[in-house]
Amino acid sequence: MVERAPTGIPGLDDLIEGGFPKNRTMLVAGACGTGKSIFSMQFLYNGVTQHQEPGVFVTFDESPENIRSDMLRFGWNLQELERHNLFAIVDGASARAGTPSSEHHALAANQLDVNRVLTDVLGIARRIGAKRLVIDSIPALGFQLENENEIRRAILRVSQVLTKSGMSSIVTTELPEASGDEPVKFSKYGVEEYVADGVVLLNFLSMGQQAARTLYVRKMRGTKHSLETHPFDITEQGLHVKKVSGFG
Ligand SMILES: Nc1ncnc2c1ncn2[C@@H]1O[C@H](COP(=O)(O)OP(=O)(O)OP(=O)(O)O)[C@@H](O)[C@H]1O
Ligand SMILES: [Mg+2]
Repeated sequence: MVERAPTGIPGLDDLIEGGFPKNRTMLVAGACGTGKSIFSMQFLYNGVTQHQEPGVFVTFDESPENIRSDMLRFGWNLQELERHNLFAIVDGASARAGTPSSEHHALAANQLDVNRVLTDVLGIARRIGAKRLVIDSIPALGFQLENENEIRRAILRVSQVLTKSGMSSIVTTELPEASGDEPVKFSKYGVEEYVADGVVLLNFLSMGQQAARTLYVRKMRGTKHSLETHPFDITEQGLHVKKVSGFG
């Protein structure tokens, strides 16, 4: 039996045999504003508060300050968890922008090499006994790399290190907006989905006056998962996946 790390996201765990496979790496992919960061944070927050699994969120896009205040809207008091050493935000956004960080956990601007980042992050994770980890996002982590070969190598490295880390992880990646005749892509560089043990696609469809968010489990190793596209909402409690026939 594959051990599970329940996401605690209402409606999702029923679609994936109870949760993500434990100690594996999941890719959460979607265009901008589809909910990748909120999804990942909900996984960490629930890990700490429902499963006694401390978590680390590595941010390369948004500042930790903004994240803390945005997440409070969902009732997730990250600062409180940080105070109890059950949760840590690692600021990679300042380093990326080349500005100093006032955060307790921050990456240094001249040390954004992937191996270095991973060493620092695993050190922080070890200190709080983290069982869950999020890297938000892979393209932002690889921003200083020159070409796609280097980026692919970096992604492979991230995946190897996470696999050995003994943590259940999520990495996020951007997806180009779907366009007419191009083949569907599941990740920015076309390799992330192969090295990840699972891929969750988030989408935002707008049809005239209507807009709908959808979630689709593209793959999940060792898991009999829903093959349907599920609508979801972002409510005052975070993501809420809705039922469709057959599953959940
Ligand atoms: N409190 C809230 N209530 C309802 N919806 C919200 C709330 N906060 C954010 N949202 C919705 O979630 C979206 C942002 O979600 P999130 O930051 O997780 O997206 P993302 O996929 O990480 O985007 P990006 O690629 O830009 O990082 C917002 O554009 C908005 O539509
Ligand atoms: Mg985001």
